Formats: sequence, structure tokens, C-alpha cells
Amino acid sequence: MTDVIPQPRRMTAHEGDFFELGPDTRVAAGAGTERTERWLRATLGAATGLPLAPGTRDGAVEGDTVRLSLDGGLSTEGYRLVVEPTGVHLTGGGPAGLFWGAQTLRQLLGPDAFRRAPLPGGRWRLPPVRIEDAPRFPWRGLMLDVARHFMPKDGVLRYLDLMAAHKLNVLHFHLTDDQGWRVEIKRHPKLTETGSWRARTKYGHRASPLWEEKPHGGYYTQDDIREIVAYAAERNITVVPEIDVPGHSQAAIAAYPELGNTDVVDTTALSVWDTWGVSPNVLAPTEATLRFYEGVFEELLALFPSEFIHIGGDECPKDQWRRSATAQARIEELALADEDELQAWFVQHFDTWLAERGRRLIGWDEILEGGLAKGAAVASWRGYAGGVAAARAGHDVVMCPEQQVYLDHRQHAGEDEPVPIGFVRTLEDVYRFEPVPAELTADESGHVLGTQANVWTEVMENQARVDYQTFPRLAAFAEVAWSALPAPADRDFAGFERRMAVHYGRLDALGVAYRPPGGPLPWQRRPGVLGRPIDGPPPDK
Ligand code: ACM
Repeated sequence: MTDVIPQPRRMTAHEGDFFELGPDTRVAAGAGTERTERWLRATLGAATGLPLAPGTRDGAVEGDTVRLSLDGGLSTEGYRLVVEPTGVHLTGGGPAGLFWGAQTLRQLLGPDAFRRAPLPGGRWRLPPVRIEDAPRFPWRGLMLDVARHFMPKDGVLRYLDLMAAHKLNVLHFHLTDDQGWRVEIKRHPKLTETGSWRARTKYGHRASPLWEEKPHGGYYTQDDIREIVAYAAERNITVVPEIDVPGHSQAAIAAYPELGNTDVVDTTALSVWDTWGVSPNVLAPTEATLRFYEGVFEELLALFPSEFIHIGGDECPKDQWRRSATAQARIEELALADEDELQAWFVQHFDTWLAERGRRLIGWDEILEGGLAKGAAVASWRGYAGGVAAARAGHDVVMCPEQQVYLDHRQHAGEDEPVPIGFVRTLEDVYRFEPVPAELTADESGHVLGTQANVWTEVMENQARVDYQTFPRLAAFAEVAWSALPAPADRDFAGFERRMAVHYGRLDALGVAYRPPGGPLPWQRRPGVLGRPIDGPPPDK
């Protein structure tokens, strides 16, 4: 029962009986604890069938009570949970810490506390423990690519619940790519009318001969986004939207052909891309394109209150810019050296534009190449090097190296892995991932805001496939992001696996279609669908 994931900093069992939640148990919520109070009543109330009626907010609290309070002496995301036979006291350093403490409390109640309705005869016992806990990093992220395969709104809300259960607090929402545009932009309606669906889809890696010969698509209305952002906020999760520029933009160009390099390609003939890889069709570096995207970002800022806005910036092939007279004239006019500097100029435009509006730009590590304003942050994906360079240049960094925490990569070398992509990255590999490179000084390490696992969905056509790739590895990742683990070689993976034995029960209760330790179940396989496995051990760095 005390097999908590991610592992708390300090957990001590003390003498005494269990505390048992029952029909008379009350929740006494102090000032500032309302969010967690609501969550406890709604979520634990549903799982247990107990009313968890409000107790006195002030004054003496009697027994059989779960007391919620804040204590400014703890860190904002830290909490203390004390279970005595007579009552439970959960204290947060702030509303977020309190909420993470409530997640621990749910884990202590056992796997059935993760169901949405009670089983007959359930008992809700908490062991006598004292837990003091706080996260290692303030950015504990999951990136969902809803562009390659759309995840309907219900699925996103479900992932927010799964993130909360693992104390993850940043959803990086990859909303646009060559293969789809997923957010309603009122002033540019064709982005979703045209850009949110494709006529057919490559089934498997791009070298696969198979096609799914049916339309695929979907998008979130602005009200859907508001709901998602509010649902996340209620769970102390920040949603960081990504609109990818100037590459990965074919869906937008298919909707508005004038956004593309019209002097080198007939962009009116483009459709939303139906296969995988990096499209050569990138945005034209014109004033009209900048104005168009400023309009997009204006609507985005009204929807997403996050400090950071992700502008992509990765994998922008320069071939069209080399051949485009318009792009070349731009390079000359701006006195730039080459197309790489043109990309940097494009990114810097939005860096300044966002900073003027009180936000901060974050982008993939390619954005570092042309120089960045101080406030911008870098998501280091091509290994650690971009993050190291960024931290040394004084930029904040989110570590998400593809060699370690790209969860589209296969998790076993076996023949049965569905559509195997990339390196073999097992549960243990993820558990031994270290977000802070040893070569950084203490000062430089302070720029590592945290870490993020990225779920790219080219070969994940539905929720079950996303679950399979994401779990159980997200549980190991959550422990890396939250817990103060020792150096990778010294981590107690056997101990983690023992705790996972209980955690699988929680995932089962939540209905997560994880990869079982013994390998995929028959219906989790995709026999005959070509992947792109990469052999070889993980690089050191
Ligand atoms: C990326 O994987 N292109 C960020």
C-alpha cells in the first residue's frame, strides 16, 4: 500500500492502526484548499461511494476527518501527509502541493481508489504514515502529438487525469504539423475546414506500402480548448500550446496556399500530408506570413494563459528558400548570411512578439542556432547538446532527448512490438534517464527547468496505441522528473519494479492499455505493418 509512484522524498511508517474512510468521514478544507477539496469529493467520492461531507472549515476539527490546509513553510509544490488512526492531515505548500499530496493519498488507498465507481465490499484504509515530499523539477512534462493522429477531446481530458495521477504538471500540446491543424482559429477558418483532415493515411513507417484508405481528422473548437485548459488548471497542470513554424506547416499551406513558397511550388495543388517524415513545403518568409501567424498567436494567447508558448522551429528544410526569389530577396534585404539565418530571423520575430506580450518563447533546439533573446527557452530533443549549449548561454532548458524519452520509440527488441520505431528504450532505460548532464556547473544546471517525455503519434492511430507506447514508461519518467533519485547507475530499478507491481493494478483500474511486462497482448500487436527499428545501444549522450 505504501508503494507510491513517484517515490516520495521521505516516508516513515509509525505505530498504530490504519485510518479507515467511511460514511461519516468528513473533509475539513482550510482556506485556499478548495481545488483539492473538489477533486477529492468528485474523484475519491466516485471511487469509494462515500459522501466525504464538508467538515468545519475553522476551529477545532474532530476525529474521522481528512484535514486539508496550506503551510507557507513548505515549497509551493511540496506537501506533508500524516495519517493517524483518528484522522488524516494533508498540508500543501500551496494549492499545487496540496493536490499532489491528494494524489499520494489516493495511491495509499489501493488500486480500487482509481475506479470511477465502488466495487461491492470495498474498504478504504490508509496505513499510518508520515510523508514529506516535493518535486525535483518545476517542469514535468508530457508532449502529446495530436497532429499526426487526432486525439479527441475526451482522450485529452483522460490524459490530464493520467498526468495528474503521476504528478506531471505540463502538457505540451503539439497542435499543428504537416499532417493536420487541430485548433480553431476564428480569423482563418480554413485552417480547420481544410487543414484538420486528410483523405488517407500511411499505415506504418513511411516506407510501408500500406494505406488506411479513409479520411482522418478532427480539431478542438476554441471552447474545447478553454475546457481543456480549465480542466488542466483544476489539476495544477499548465497547457503549453505548440504551433510549429516555419517548417512542419504543410497543413496550414494546404489551407492557405499563399503561406507557402509560391514562386517555386504550386502550393494550390498541396493537400494535408498523408504520409510521414519532414515535408519540404515550408512557410514563405514574407510579411504576409508573419501577419497571418501573429493573428494565429493572438487567438492562441487568449486561449492559453501559459507563460511559455511553443513555436516549434525544428526540421525546416531550406531547399525551397534556396530556390525562391522571394526568400532570397528577403535574405538580401535583411543582410543575412544564408537560409539558416533566415530561419533565425523568423523565430526571433516571434520571440520579440511574444516577449512584448509578456510571454516567453520555447522552441526545439534548432532555434538556438541563430541566437535568441534571453527570455526564450529551448526544448533539447536532438540529444543533450542543444540543452547544454542553451544552459551555457543562459537560456532555460527542458530536457527531452530523443535517444531517451521519445516514447514512440519501441520498448523491447522483440518481434512482437507493434510497428517498431527507433531505439529500444525499455522501462529500465527510462528509469535511468538523467535530465541534468554532468558537464553542467551548478549555476548552469539551474537553467534546466525540467524534463518532458514526447509522444509522437505517426504510428499510434488510436488511444490504445498511445497508451501502449506511453505506459508503463511514463511511470518511470514521472519518478525521474519528481523524485530525488541518485545517479543513473545507482538507481534501485528492482525496487521500482516491486512498486510497479502495485502500480499496474492502478493502471488497470484506470483502464490504461499499457505494455504488459511480458510483452504485447495479441490485440496490441500489428503483424505485417512496417516500422523503422534502429539498432544499437543508447549513445552516452
Ligand atoms: C522533433 O522531434 N522534431 C522535435
